[in-house]
Amino acid sequence: EAITRVVSFRGVPMSKYNVENWERMDYFQARHDDVVIATYPKAGTTWVSEIMDMIYAGGDLEKCQRDAIYNRVPYMEIRVPGMPSGVDQLEVLASPRLIKTHVPIHLMPESFWEKNCKVIYVARNAKDVAVSYFFFHNMVKALPDPGPWDKFVTDYMNGAVSYGSWFDHVKGWWERRNQYQILYLFYEDLKEDPKREIKKILHFLKRELSEEVLEKIVHHTSFQIMSKNTMANYKTIPNELLNQTNTAFMRKGEAGDWKNHFTVAQNEMFDTHYQKEMLGTSLHFRTEI
Ligand code: A3P
Repeated sequence: EAITRVVSFRGVPMSKYNVENWERMDYFQARHDDVVIATYPKAGTTWVSEIMDMIYAGGDLEKCQRDAIYNRVPYMEIRVPGMPSGVDQLEVLASPRLIKTHVPIHLMPESFWEKNCKVIYVARNAKDVAVSYFFFHNMVKALPDPGPWDKFVTDYMNGAVSYGSWFDHVKGWWERRNQYQILYLFYEDLKEDPKREIKKILHFLKRELSEEVLEKIVHHTSFQIMSKNTMANYKTIPNELLNQTNTAFMRKGEAGDWKNHFTVAQNEMFDTHYQKEMLGTSLHFRTEI
């Protein structure tokens, strides 16, 4: 039995435990030097937070080995019974803080915009996210049973999954990228040339690192190395919460894996829906790799 249920909150399906204490989110106090890593689930959150952690540590691996829940960088809105919530963890965290979140932009605490905080948004193509999210549902006790893949694709397409519609999420953040300090990145670009994308991050943060440190970060945050890093692969999280017996959290780490999972019919149905949802937006994804 799943330990939690997904409820509708301000138009977005979300874990009821996250929702229960939302006043803490509404009144969350951002600090001017907070940097937020915002994503729809499975878009590369863990990857970019590892990159950010390495940047903040100046490439010093020792500094990156601090022990904490959720890969050191707290997930702001997440509450799991029996564990300190994201907000609890963040309130006692020393500045400069790194903060992860999956919330759609309209659920972001106002304080971040008042303080003009920087946000790195990471987007990943809809089909690879669907596949990754399906496997993730089978690992996480707090998420509902996804049922068979065919059902999940439909639910996902219709936004009837935790954190709601992928379409609304990626478009919502995209539309406001120039209004706030938002660096909008793509998983597929990170796969193609991680060094180039890390340089974009450095530029956005007005930070500089030597070529040597940059190379070190690229290496340390590669899928191969991160899969073996217990500070990044979530192996420290108990099985009851995240069961990695059948699938590892660091599952495949590729662009285009959806082709191994979507049937021709599912793909056609998805494409038709996709065109409707993405009509008129200047936001484009590289789904065909
Ligand atoms: P797959 O399930 O497709 O393998 P999130 O951190 O947002 O939950 O996203 C998890 C997804 O990012 C998983 O995708 C995971 O394998 C992938 N990922 C994590 N670290 C990665 C890395 N260093 N390089 C490429 N993909 C990575």
